[in-house]
Amino acid sequence: MLTLTDKKIHRGSLILVNEQYGTGSEPEDLLMPACDRVPEVMLLRCAAALLNELMQEIHGWDHIVPVSGYRPLAEQQQIWDDSLLENGECFTRKYVALPGHSEHQTGLAIDLALKQENIDFIHPDFPYSGICQTFREKAPKYGFILRYPEGKEKITGIGHEPWHFRYVGTPHARIMTDEGLTLEEYMDFIRQFPYGGRPYLTKSGSRKVRISYLSAARETDASGNLLRTLAGHTPCTVSGNNIDGYIITEYLRRL
Ligand code: DAL
Ligand code: ZN
Repeated sequence: MLTLTDKKIHRGSLILVNEQYGTGSEPEDLLMPACDRVPEVMLLRCAAALLNELMQEIHGWDHIVPVSGYRPLAEQQQIWDDSLLENGECFTRKYVALPGHSEHQTGLAIDLALKQENIDFIHPDFPYSGICQTFREKAPKYGFILRYPEGKEKITGIGHEPWHFRYVGTPHARIMTDEGLTLEEYMDFIRQFPYGGRPYLTKSGSRKVRISYLSAARETDASGNLLRTLAGHTPCTVSGNNIDGYIITEYLRRL
């Protein structure tokens, strides 16, 4: 049994954070170094663990460095202020999220750079070739998406960032990548599959997976508190969408 409360709308690996939807409070889960060699760059535990599994598979940390992971609000504000002075408003709005609206504040986003002498903190080099491209191709298998792709700038509100990856979990990262959907588009897509109705069916590893959307508004009691209990014994994960509900991912029988 799983009980959902309003607060959980703003928690979980699928939360949409952008100019429209801010981050709210600080992450509650544990932060860990994204890479043991650079302990000051932190991520939420789940994202750090999966990133390291990926890096292990491709021996990535020999050639790639983490540039920026979790940022408290004050740090995002500092980056914004510094960039305004150094780069001007147009560049800053294109490559720096408004303080309070950065995925880096969630601990679910990481900027990566090809290891070299001079690394640009705001605009690191992460080419579409070699080890960086190998990382990009493997990323969905480990739950990461390229969050700000070329051609989707109007939807994400951010310029193309080849270096910024966002942990959303599996199988969501694979679906988004295969279908060419940004997180904004995926949130709209999943709304077509309301919980208890026709779900989106896919598979993850050897399991069949059912994905659906649960609207918070439909589930409030007389005093406005949300209290929804999911029935059954199916293993599932729940993430808020940071808007108005939850994404339910149910792991069904083995195929
Ligand atoms: N560079 C990304 C958009 C951020 O500042 O969160
Ligand atoms: Zn970033």
